Amino acid sequence: MSDHDQMAQEATARIAASEDLTALEALRVEYLGKHGSVSALLKTLGKMSPEERQEKAPAIQGLRQTVADALASRKAELEAAELEERLASETLDLTLPAGAGPKGSIHPVSQVMDELAEIFADLGFAVATGPEIEDDWYNFTALNMPESHPARAMHDTFYFPDPAPKGGKMLLRTHTSPVQIRTMMDKGAPVRIIAPGRVYRSDSDATHTPMFHQIEGLVIDRDIHLGHLKWTLETFLKAFFETEDIVLRLRPSYFPFTEPSVEVDVGFAIENGKRILGGSGDEPGHGWMELLGSGMVNRRVIEFAGLDPDEWQGFAFGVGVDRLAMLKYGMDDLRAFFDGDTRWLEHYGFSALSQPTLSAGVGERA
Ligand code: PHE
Repeated sequence: MSDHDQMAQEATARIAASEDLTALEALRVEYLGKHGSVSALLKTLGKMSPEERQEKAPAIQGLRQTVADALASRKAELEAAELEERLASETLDLTLPAGAGPKGSIHPVSQVMDELAEIFADLGFAVATGPEIEDDWYNFTALNMPESHPARAMHDTFYFPDPAPKGGKMLLRTHTSPVQIRTMMDKGAPVRIIAPGRVYRSDSDATHTPMFHQIEGLVIDRDIHLGHLKWTLETFLKAFFETEDIVLRLRPSYFPFTEPSVEVDVGFAIENGKRILGGSGDEPGHGWMELLGSGMVNRRVIEFAGLDPDEWQGFAFGVGVDRLAMLKYGMDDLRAFFDGDTRWLEHYGFSALSQPTLSAGVGERA
């Protein structure tokens, strides 16, 4: 038997007998490390004449391969054994009562989104979603904002450096309105959806954060008119704020993707320095607060989404979820929503066990 064969035999035997990963690593260093014995043999190849190298190289390289293979297979065995051992020893007692550990709670944003889904489900709306990383075609162009449109500048958009696959730019969506386009293109008409989700604008103060949440509403059908929009918003806001005493003011406005466009304000009273929803904002000691944007879907948008605007009409609205949460549950600084401070969550959070339902009251704290 050659020296190399003998070395291979001895190495594979020792490797197979190694008891743990530490011992195995020591053997790897001993043979294949920088100063290892097999490495030393490999180095001798450099000093040989070409003829000698041709003769000896296969045996030395074969030895290195044998040792490397033995190390790899023993490593896999030892790792599998270690995993088995950990699985046997680290058990998790799923029968422990949940109250024993730290308590989590539902964030007010999630709570409000669940409340809205519940309210709109009762009105026959499905929940739709779309990507947060959008193509500027969906976020702007198809919403009747061509490249040079001044409304694009009002959105303080975060753009990505790379171009979009179909040309144009990739961006973080600045509103949930691109889901209108995606839904009409995917599902056709009629449509009755809400689309909750994160949106992004480069803006930050007590009432603006670079990421915030919106819910988009879209209804497309035959013979839909402004009366349907007004009724839907009134019904939704009364259910959400759990009071019949909601007075809305519809104000003419402008969005490129709706025509006509309507901004909706709610009346509130000031009591002890706090805003209390209810009553007309025109009464003494009262005011109006802007709540959401809406309007009849612009026929160009319906066309962009591949539908015939002479057959299909509808309305859309977009409302800030965080703002709804602040109004209903009395927080005054939006930035605290995203600080991840457990004391804030303990104060404003909701029990995971209290699902909002219309029958029990959508905003009950457990
Ligand atoms: N997307 C608009 C915004 O973010 C809101 C909106 C939605 C207006 C739908 C009209 C219709 O300001």
